[in-house]
Amino acid sequence: MPERFPASLQQKIEDRLRYYEDLGIRLFYTERGPGGASFAVPEAVASASSPTPVFEEIALPKSTPKPAPAKPAPIAAPPPLVVPPSGPSLFESTDKLKDDTLLKIREDLGECTRCKLHKGRNKIVFGDGNPKAQLVFVGEGPGADEDMQGLPFVGRAGKLLTQMIEAMGLQRSDVYICNVVKCRPPENRAPEPDEVAACSPFLIRQIDSIHPKVIVCLGATAAKTILNTTRGISQFRCEWLEWRGHKLMATYHPAYLLRNPPAKADVWKDLQKVMAELGLQLPKKSKS
Ligand code: URA
Repeated sequence: MPERFPASLQQKIEDRLRYYEDLGIRLFYTERGPGGASFAVPEAVASASSPTPVFEEIALPKSTPKPAPAKPAPIAAPPPLVVPPSGPSLFESTDKLKDDTLLKIREDLGECTRCKLHKGRNKIVFGDGNPKAQLVFVGEGPGADEDMQGLPFVGRAGKLLTQMIEAMGLQRSDVYICNVVKCRPPENRAPEPDEVAACSPFLIRQIDSIHPKVIVCLGATAAKTILNTTRGISQFRCEWLEWRGHKLMATYHPAYLLRNPPAKADVWKDLQKVMAELGLQLPKKSKS
């Protein structure tokens, strides 16, 4: 295949196009060279000066809402759905601390030994991103890569999360990413109630101090834990929920999407609702 871009840029474009294809956006075509099928970027992308995706030239899947109009109308928010609690909450209602900061919360967490997870951890994974983010993603708990690096969502699932964020027209540095528990559960099992209870005051303080417009809960475990429900995530994903005065959207975990790529289309629907709420539009092709 003739090289049209520096290799790193080409790789980025290919990754992005593959991601859109995974979302069900399938109008990209491939060139077939003498050696068989090869991946080629569409002309519209090839002629653009940046790897901005070309959503207007892409047929979105039938079930996917159309990109937001140029000036999105204010959203008449439907009444928040309250998921009925299924037991005592692990997130006791706590008063907001005045002038709390992520730095102070991290200091208070210290070299935490409040629950048994500290015994197996390598690094605490506190959270990462913009302390004034409008959008916060909350996962379940660190995996092996996160435990090694001390940063959330840096493994395979994390790379997919980064692609999801970029597909929304944002960078990772625009959002804040954290987890329900800050230390890796052994064998990546779900965090247990005593572990969630020990960590929850810190998550609550993180969210309160960032004060985002929207929280996206990644995966059934995080969603069910935070919302204190035993209902399956498929029953309440794609619906606006309310948690401690914040709008919350639950969606599937990127690790689930790695095992079940067709569910990416559902996640994309959820993220488009989030984009509309935040006044974000799909990235436009540059006109050059
Ligand atoms: N899965 C999570 O829930 N959180 C991470 O940080 C990484 C993987």
